[in-house]
Amino acid sequence: MQKLLIDGKKILSGSINISGSKNSTLPILAATILNNQTTINNIPVVNDILTMLNLLKFIGLKYKLSKKKNSVQVFNLNKNINTVAPYKLVKTMRAGVLVLGPLLGKYKKAKVSLPGGCAIGTRPVDLHLFALKKLGAKIKIKNGYIFASANNGLKGAKFRFPSISVGATENAILAAVQAQGITVIDNCATEPEIKDLINFLKKLGIKIKNKDRKITIEGELKEKKISHKVICDRIELGTYLVGGALTAKKLKLKNINPSLIKKEISILKKMGVKMNVKKNYLEVFKSKNIKPANIKTDPFPGFPTDLQAQIMILMTQAKGVSKIRESIFENRFMHVPELKRMGAKIEIRNNTAYIQGPCFLNGAEVMATDLRASVSLVLAALIADKRTKINRIYHLDRGYENLEKKLIKCKARIKRV
Ligand code: EPZ
Repeated sequence: MQKLLIDGKKILSGSINISGSKNSTLPILAATILNNQTTINNIPVVNDILTMLNLLKFIGLKYKLSKKKNSVQVFNLNKNINTVAPYKLVKTMRAGVLVLGPLLGKYKKAKVSLPGGCAIGTRPVDLHLFALKKLGAKIKIKNGYIFASANNGLKGAKFRFPSISVGATENAILAAVQAQGITVIDNCATEPEIKDLINFLKKLGIKIKNKDRKITIEGELKEKKISHKVICDRIELGTYLVGGALTAKKLKLKNINPSLIKKEISILKKMGVKMNVKKNYLEVFKSKNIKPANIKTDPFPGFPTDLQAQIMILMTQAKGVSKIRESIFENRFMHVPELKRMGAKIEIRNNTAYIQGPCFLNGAEVMATDLRASVSLVLAALIADKRTKINRIYHLDRGYENLEKKLIKCKARIKRV
């Protein structure tokens, strides 16, 4: 198993190109099932994307990936289609369940493995199935698989999600674009990645209106050769922004759309982080007087759960007690015991972490538990005294493109062994 060795306390400087969004690319790749020829640009070449491409290949699609150009062409020739997403692919990446909606809508049946729980929580798919049932699907669960069918095709419907889910909103949209009639869904997630999926589907002739958590879908999908550039990865951007605030003489983050992280920028500025925000890049500087903050994770436009672990590292350097309330996942403080081994003073009560700063972090051997927890350990290691050894870094490779390369270019001391 590979590990990262990081020697901390180096002053970083230079520039980092932010990759395209993993969580935008995944549902858009699932959407390629609906079209004959699709080119997607600005994709991050990370393991979750490769797993999704493998799943599309298993289903019967063909693809040409250019790692150099961060671009993929996907072809659905409608030949030898296997409407199945097997356990071995869905268990390694939950987003595999996103093929359920497009397979069911287009081929009227699908058999998709139940993803099961994961390190950050139980993560059920009941809301995905709720939406598909509203569109007329028959659903059975057997032997760890979801068997979905709609012999006469899906029918447009009007319904409201009982709670907000990114994945369920995406699956519902991906199914509804093939349904007969109009679909109106209320209480939807409104993450920028969902807007990106909607913009992609509009290119196939679907009319989608999206206002105040209500999404209206109508029109007939017309297969045609299209191309789409995915939005920048706002979580990767936020990660390096925090990294720069912790370590950088000057770090320039390029290829970005700062409006995607307006809320995060304003929180960091209030904490005392110095930055220059321009139209498509930003510069961030190591900040000496960091103030504590009080945040709660929430669905967009709230503070993203995917940036909670990273901002916690900045909070360890603030003068005073900061608070993070995690309201999305029930088990997303797995990085805390590891950070405490590095000297962080953090206490968890119920779903809230209390972070006492400023504190001196020292290098230690730690274990990565999920994608964002892992990257928070990298950020901690960058400011820690001496060497940190991070085990189980395969989590990082699922979602951060060229992490060490990007940091080494900015003078970090990192080695993969
Ligand atoms: C997406 O996961 C992201 N993944 C996650 O990114 C992100 O943390 C999460 O949204 C929240 O922003 C992708 O986009 C591929 P949810 P998703 O459905 O769709 C509960 C990362 O690090 N729920 O919005 O699975 C669920 O358990 C990650 O890149 C149900 O109860 O998240 C959670 O508590 C990991 N029933 C809450 O809703 C359901 O059917 C929100 O989950 C579905 C979800």
